[in-house]
Amino acid sequence: MKTNIVLLASVFVLLTACSGGLNQAPLRNLPAPVQRFNVATGPTAAPPLAPVPDFGSIPAPADNPVTQGKVELGFRLWFEPRLSAGNRMTCATCHNHTMGFSNAQVNAAGVTGVRGDRNVPTIYGAVHQRESFWDGRAKTLEIQALGPIENPIEMNESIPNVLKKLENVPYYQQKFKEVFGTGPSAEGIAKAMASFERALTMAPTPYERFQKGETTAMNEAQQRGMRTFFSGRGRCFMCHQGQAFTNQLYVNIGVGMDKANPDLGRFNVTKMPWDRGSFKTPTLLNISQTAPYMHDGSIDTLQDVVEHYNKGGIKNEALDPRIVPLNLSESEKTELVAFLRALSAPDNLRALGKLPGIHLRQDHIEAMVSGRVLRSPE
Ligand code: HEC
Ligand code: HEC
Repeated sequence: MKTNIVLLASVFVLLTACSGGLNQAPLRNLPAPVQRFNVATGPTAAPPLAPVPDFGSIPAPADNPVTQGKVELGFRLWFEPRLSAGNRMTCATCHNHTMGFSNAQVNAAGVTGVRGDRNVPTIYGAVHQRESFWDGRAKTLEIQALGPIENPIEMNESIPNVLKKLENVPYYQQKFKEVFGTGPSAEGIAKAMASFERALTMAPTPYERFQKGETTAMNEAQQRGMRTFFSGRGRCFMCHQGQAFTNQLYVNIGVGMDKANPDLGRFNVTKMPWDRGSFKTPTLLNISQTAPYMHDGSIDTLQDVVEHYNKGGIKNEALDPRIVPLNLSESEKTELVAFLRALSAPDNLRALGKLPGIHLRQDHIEAMVSGRVLRSPE
């Protein structure tokens, strides 16, 4: 009974946190997110679950190797409302794993209800990311992690306040000591959060299984879509390449450049004229779950994304020369979308939730991992 009240209260807080009265950008009626892992092979074909990786083998900066203790702490912090003003919001509020670590909205409202301009990027493939944010302004995941806490339009809390709150929780006192040999610290939060993000892996996608010789993992349409994707006809591979389907480079494909005051993206970081309107090539992992698309959430469906490329993007003085009209047939477009849907697979969040050092009751973890609540209990 007590748990139910806590759960209900949390849901209420989350709902109000996400729909504050000061919304600046009205929400559009978006299509319901595509059912998880419903690739064309059918929703009944249960995909393999992602196991916990060998932490020692995960690529990480020399001063922050991934360890189990950091991942456990990072998992708990990811769902920790104390990181926000009034304990109202967690990282998972915006990066909701049941929506591909995004929020199924054009942009996001912070604790005060004010919305930012940018679409919430997924966390999938974080381990393959060189720089963070749409414009790459954070050099590492460690630097990124403290940003949302202090950002007035996100969690709007001060780091000293967060540390004070965490110091009052026996779990954090003990866990920071065990992992970093100190009490709760900003550096510890950043390192643990980055380690959790790097340890977040996915089961092999239908595309990866197909690559390894499982010929039935993708249907005929998806296979034809794959060939278009990697050919001079589709050109997608020119930027979306590698394990996370991104070359990590900043490119202007014209999105938003027809607005009166376009978001200049990478230009704000480098001040180089050729970077006007350029954004980081995003990962395509679990892309069918993260609608709407692009840095401004301006494209609702994968079909419309393909139409954007087919017409040659949106003309502007800094448009990347690789973006040209494609003249794809209707079936080529449909097949490309079918292929994009083959880049989805379940993640290992549930497996990470079973690590012993998280010290939460399994039913609490289950409630978080299944998305029923997006916060650890107070
Ligand atoms: C209010 C919603 C919101 C909350 C809360 C939030 N984020 Fe984000 N996050 C965003 C948005 C929006 C962006 C993109 C901003 C940009 O590119 O300018 C982002 C970007 C990121 C990125 C970069 C991803 C990439 O591909 O470059 C990471 C990593 C991230 N957030 C982690 C976190 C962590 C860790 C927390 C909790 C401490 C958190 N976020 C809380 C909305 C949120
Ligand atoms: C010249 C580089 C380049 C090429 C070629 C390219 N993309 Fe992209 N793609 C990008 C960039 C950069 C973005 C983000 C742009 C923005 O938000 O302003 C993007 C965004 C996307 C998105 C939305 C991702 C999200 O999370 O919002 C999808 C889906 C996508 N591309 C698929 C494709 C497909 C399919 C093709 C081939 C038809 C393709 N791309 C060709 C660079 C490229």
